Amino acid sequence: MKKYLKWAAVGFGAIFLGIQAVQPDRTNPPVDETQTIEALLKAPPQVLTIIQRSCFDCHSNKTNWPWYSYVAPSSWLVASDVKNARAQMNFSEWGKYKGLRAVSKLDQICMNVDQGTMPLPIYLIMHPSARLSKAEIDTICAWVEAESERLSE
Ligand code: HEC
Repeated sequence: MKKYLKWAAVGFGAIFLGIQAVQPDRTNPPVDETQTIEALLKAPPQVLTIIQRSCFDCHSNKTNWPWYSYVAPSSWLVASDVKNARAQMNFSEWGKYKGLRAVSKLDQICMNVDQGTMPLPIYLIMHPSARLSKAEIDTICAWVEAESERLSE
């Protein structure tokens, strides 16, 4: 029995080392500072601070890649979340969203933080400081409302 356990451990070890060869893409594309949310929207500093703290790791080109993004299999999960998040909404490429599209992105921000679907709950396990307080959610949603109105004029 002990012998089987030993070989099982060796087997898992070999698989663990083997999968490390499959490295996901962890690039941070260059940022054009004229196209960012900071440049294009009218956001007070406290709103930007919240978004930078709680959203930028996934929804910007300024991702801080954590250590576990270098270790398979968690690396695959992190990289795929960042890829999908950037595709849905990238604060570093806000210039891509024009007119009603920008307004609808803004509305989605408030909806998602209000419902607690963003920041992704799994992210909060490793980044508890990214959790939003009720006051911060209200700050975000009040800003979304004012900014949507301004953009719709
Ligand atoms: C750990 C990574 C991560 C963080 C941090 C994160 N998101 Fe996301 N977000 C995602 C992923 C992944 C998707 C795409 C989900 C999908 O494809 O269904 C997404 C999608 C979205 C969408 C589009 C959803 C829709 O309704 O279509 C919005 C809006 C959004 N996030 C807002 C935010 C905001 C605001 C924050 C910060 C408060 C945030 N996210 C933080 C990973 C993240």
